[in-house]
Amino acid sequence: MQLTDTHCHLDYHKFDSDRAEVIQRAIDAGLIRMLVPGLHHRSSRDAVQLAESNSSVYAAVGFHPTDLEEFSEESFQQVKELAKHPKVVAIGEIGIDYYWVKENDKRAFQRDALKQQLQFAKDINKPVIIHMREENDAWFGEASQDLLKILEEWQNSLKGSLAEKPGVLHSFNGTLETAQKGLALNFYIGVTGPVTYKNAEKKREIIQQLPLEKLLIETDSPFLSPKPVREKRNEPSYILHIADKIAEIHSKSPAEIAAITTANAARLFAWGD
Ligand code: NI
Repeated sequence: MQLTDTHCHLDYHKFDSDRAEVIQRAIDAGLIRMLVPGLHHRSSRDAVQLAESNSSVYAAVGFHPTDLEEFSEESFQQVKELAKHPKVVAIGEIGIDYYWVKENDKRAFQRDALKQQLQFAKDINKPVIIHMREENDAWFGEASQDLLKILEEWQNSLKGSLAEKPGVLHSFNGTLETAQKGLALNFYIGVTGPVTYKNAEKKREIIQQLPLEKLLIETDSPFLSPKPVREKRNEPSYILHIADKIAEIHSKSPAEIAAITTANAARLFAWGD
């Protein structure tokens, strides 16, 4: 089985004591590639360093919407320099988070930082990894509305392969309508551990209606551990539990889901080829 984890924060301090073992366990579990997204300029640098020292690890660089305290012309410039590295395959994770951020001026700042980073992704012709979280974790609200508006404007301005493969809606947690709008803009949909939770029936119903060739599997390690290991720190090797659940939802074998989502990831991120 060949799996790809398109979203794991392996630079996170929770992996400081056993990072090499975590990566080895992932490889032993059938993971052929892992993508580490950046949260800000320092984390982006760490992601690139991990990609440099591990052949199966790739990096994305960018500023997460809740990590914008140090977003400035200078720190953004550092991220732009990092993006030149051959193993940087995307800009992310970037986006909108109205769960942690309630003040209107800070939300406006998030939208501005997102637009600047989308413009940069367009300039260097790389896809984006999009984070979106609503106030009170609602299924639909202002975050979805604002995000879709910004992404639509951006996607409409793209040409060529980037317009066909602009990015992924990471750890998707919205309505079917929002997912369909994302698909209409050619975005991929990222599926994470919560799909395995007992009370996630609505989420499974949504994923069942999405085309398999647009799904990616992400662990979001060390967060969002899937069901059988929910109390533990998440790590890429646990991706099998998510693949199993998608297989069940779509009436396929886990091996088929692994092959399809690995091919999807290769199409979107091209892995520096
Ligand atoms: Ni993340």
